[in-house]
Amino acid sequence: MKSCKLFVSFSTVLITIAVLAGISLSCSSNQKQDALYKIQKAKTLVIGTSADYPPYEFHSLKDGKDLIVGFDIAIAQEIAKDLGVKLEIKDMQFDGLLAALQAGTIDIVISGMTPTEERKKSVDFSTTYYYAVHGVIVRAEDKEKYQTVEALKNARLSAQKGTIQVGIAKTQILGLSEAEAEKPSDKVKELGTIKNLILDLKNKKVDAIVAELPVATAYVNNNPDLALAAPTFTDDQGGSAIAVKKGNPELLAAINKTVERLMAEKKIDQFVTEANELVEN
Ligand code: ARG
Repeated sequence: MKSCKLFVSFSTVLITIAVLAGISLSCSSNQKQDALYKIQKAKTLVIGTSADYPPYEFHSLKDGKDLIVGFDIAIAQEIAKDLGVKLEIKDMQFDGLLAALQAGTIDIVISGMTPTEERKKSVDFSTTYYYAVHGVIVRAEDKEKYQTVEALKNARLSAQKGTIQVGIAKTQILGLSEAEAEKPSDKVKELGTIKNLILDLKNKKVDAIVAELPVATAYVNNNPDLALAAPTFTDDQGGSAIAVKKGNPELLAAINKTVERLMAEKKIDQFVTEANELVEN
């Protein structure tokens, strides 16, 4: 009889294992899979970026080929490398990036994006990997005119559509309250790309563009007819982070692992220097 009892308890254990396995199987098939698995299955990480933002991301000719380069791209390449997948870049307007992420046409956004409280309501952000203040691009001939914030108040201001620089122009230059700044205003012209803003500046349709200072500096260094206005601005949230669709903790953890490794190895600074060298060419 003893052996019979042993048999019963043994089969009970087997049944229990089978039931538990069944439960965990059905659990994982019911649950939405982490975006990490989709990337691994596709063997491709698709990033969305607005490649008009040197040294973060920009177009550069190499051996007659148009490439998208920049320190954000270098970071994305490291993430793809760590995941063991290849990198695909989708270049789009900045104000369309988060919608593309929600729609699933891209896996992540890396585009010098500031992790604002507003954006955090709809997406998750990685560790902040880079900090910058904001600067103002003006025409070289006007440089002397724009030495103070007060002087900039009289300029026809502009910023890229959907960016925090629109808010900075309204609150820190024009002195509007946060609530007033929420409302659309014709005081700050918004265009989809920095490229078109630069054209407007050169054609005297606007007088000043607010952008992250490294970007403003890159454009000024490449355009002798442009200059930096004296004032710079900071924002509370500061910095750039990678956006991931909410509810993908495994992808977010994998991204943070790479970002934190790069920061510890001082690689981000190196990528910024390398990107700036490419801008000069
Ligand atoms: N940091 C700013 C923001 O998040 C501007 C980023 C613009 N990026 C770009 N690639 N054009 O609003």
